[in-house]
Amino acid sequence: MILLSLPTIDPEPWRAEFAAVIPEQRAVVAGRDAVDPAAVRYGFAWKSPPHAFEGLPGLKAIFSLGAGVDHLLADPYLPDVPLARVVDPDLTMRMTEWVVLQVLMHHRRQRLYDRQQAERVWRDLPQPSASAVRVGIMGMGVLGSDAAEVLVRLGFRVAGWSRTPRRVAGVEGFHGPEGLAPFLARTDILVCLLPLTDETRGLIDRKLIAGLARDGALGGPVLINAGRGGQQVEADVLAALDDGTLMAASLDVFETEPLPADSPLWSHPAVTVTPHVAGESAPGAIVRLVAEQIRRCERGLPLQHQVDRKRGY
Ligand code: NDP
Ligand code: OXD
Repeated sequence: MILLSLPTIDPEPWRAEFAAVIPEQRAVVAGRDAVDPAAVRYGFAWKSPPHAFEGLPGLKAIFSLGAGVDHLLADPYLPDVPLARVVDPDLTMRMTEWVVLQVLMHHRRQRLYDRQQAERVWRDLPQPSASAVRVGIMGMGVLGSDAAEVLVRLGFRVAGWSRTPRRVAGVEGFHGPEGLAPFLARTDILVCLLPLTDETRGLIDRKLIAGLARDGALGGPVLINAGRGGQQVEADVLAALDDGTLMAASLDVFETEPLPADSPLWSHPAVTVTPHVAGESAPGAIVRLVAEQIRRCERGLPLQHQVDRKRGY
């Protein structure tokens, strides 16, 4: 039996997909269906509440619906079973699309042209070439590396920052706390694709923003965050936008989601808001992956894409 704990989304399309793809493991929805705790072998979760998987003596593994697992690790009662996250080409491509869209939007000054169009203004703006623009990606894992490769292909000067050294062709590598300042100092467009951990919480604050390059071809630094909202101090981002330390921001993730209606981010002229959709997960692709993982587990094989609980991702 697979226990689905998906309190913030409609569980039915996911339950139906599990029933179609892996009928031998009955999928039940926490809080809705009758559940025999002794029969549950697997958990599948997105923003599950604390205790969601407690008291299940036969539990073998828990799967995150997404790439991030901060939502699971926030549960102090999470049982000590293997956790696996999503690594899926469909999700990766969706994320890369969003990152490239935002980088190009700032690079090609699309927000300014939108404003000019609204005012029927025919005026060209200075346009640097991509090779004059330095993109820095924080988080060079599955998602960061893929986005980096596409941005390199488009001609941007790309660097990556990770916890441990990472090599991606055409990308300048920085790592660790000591690598952060030089990474920021050469970055015009900062892209965050980090997991939320104790080390990355609140990382994007006034000090970090002030460390970005100020001599770039775009006229000021840009922040693009699709990692997690907990990584950005929104008051600092707003203050930096207002005093010109930051030129613009594209945010897909927020300290509080949904973004509260009274957040000044909604109406800030230099901010682009998307509602945590950069890499929306589609039931078809994700359930197929989880079903493969369950079948591996049933054959005694280790899970793929296991989470290191100590590292936090
Ligand atoms: P990975 O685990 O593959 O990569 C994480 C990267 O972050 C690695 O390069 C890792 O370093 C680096 N990292 C982690 N901690 C630190 C640190 N303290 N300092 C420097 N670098 C660090 O994750 P994914 O690429 O698959 O996903 C990244 C995140 O993207 C997810 O955790 C999730 O939060 C977010 N996400 C958002 C979505 C959205 O719709 N907005 C959709 C999907 C994911 P190292 O290489 O050394 O391990
Ligand atoms: C994820 C997400 O972690 O969608 O996959 O945020």
